[in-house]
Amino acid sequence: MSDKITIAIDGYSSTGKSTIAKQIAKHLGYVYVDSGAMYRAVTYYAMTKGLIHESDFNAEALIYQLDIVHINFKFNSELGFAEVYLNNQNIEKAIRTLEVSSFVSKVAAVSEVRKKLVAIQQQIGKNKGVVMDGRDIGTVVFPDAELKIFMTASAETRAQRRYKELIERGDDVVYDSVLKNVQERDHLDSTRKDSPLVKADDAIEIDNSNLSLQEQFEKVLQLVSMTIEDT
Ligand code: DC
Repeated sequence: MSDKITIAIDGYSSTGKSTIAKQIAKHLGYVYVDSGAMYRAVTYYAMTKGLIHESDFNAEALIYQLDIVHINFKFNSELGFAEVYLNNQNIEKAIRTLEVSSFVSKVAAVSEVRKKLVAIQQQIGKNKGVVMDGRDIGTVVFPDAELKIFMTASAETRAQRRYKELIERGDDVVYDSVLKNVQERDHLDSTRKDSPLVKADDAIEIDNSNLSLQEQFEKVLQLVSMTIEDT
């Protein structure tokens, strides 16, 4: 029996990475880190400082201000996971809007932003016992992770899931805009120069278009057990 491992879960947007990552972290008593929330937090910062709107994005000004952008997580025992804070303000809800989603890929393409966030992610995961989800966790953040999972599902399935989530929280959105956003982010995330979304060679791909949450959980848990036994 080995010590704790590192679990990297990457994949396209709205593939349910965070759902499975949270379930597995809870089951194992590991720390869960939503790396996308960190890119969303920087995007939210840029929006509130007027550095980004419509097609205008002042990346240089954002880079200049990066030193005063402080991002951290605080565990919320009622929710059972850590919420993201920007300069001591809880922004967990504010970063989940379609507006933030529509700008985040641009911000995530800025190398200086990635460098800063990757360093924080590596620091959080340095003692293992972590489940982190994102786009470059198995390729860049933790290339030596013992278990790497790459989640996929059709764009339509993912847009339906995200649409349902946004409607349930009371947002006024139309399905077509959500689908367009999912497709645009897929394109931007996988074609950007710095750390594009690609499956790591040693990642195990799971297409969950036709899997129930329970089936998916069992499948991943089996992979976790096999990995822990082998380590
Ligand atoms: O997982 P999410 O949809 O909340 O992520 C939001 C965006 O952040 C996503 O479109 C791409 C970017 N991202 C990234 O570039 N690298 C990560 N490790 C996580 C997210």
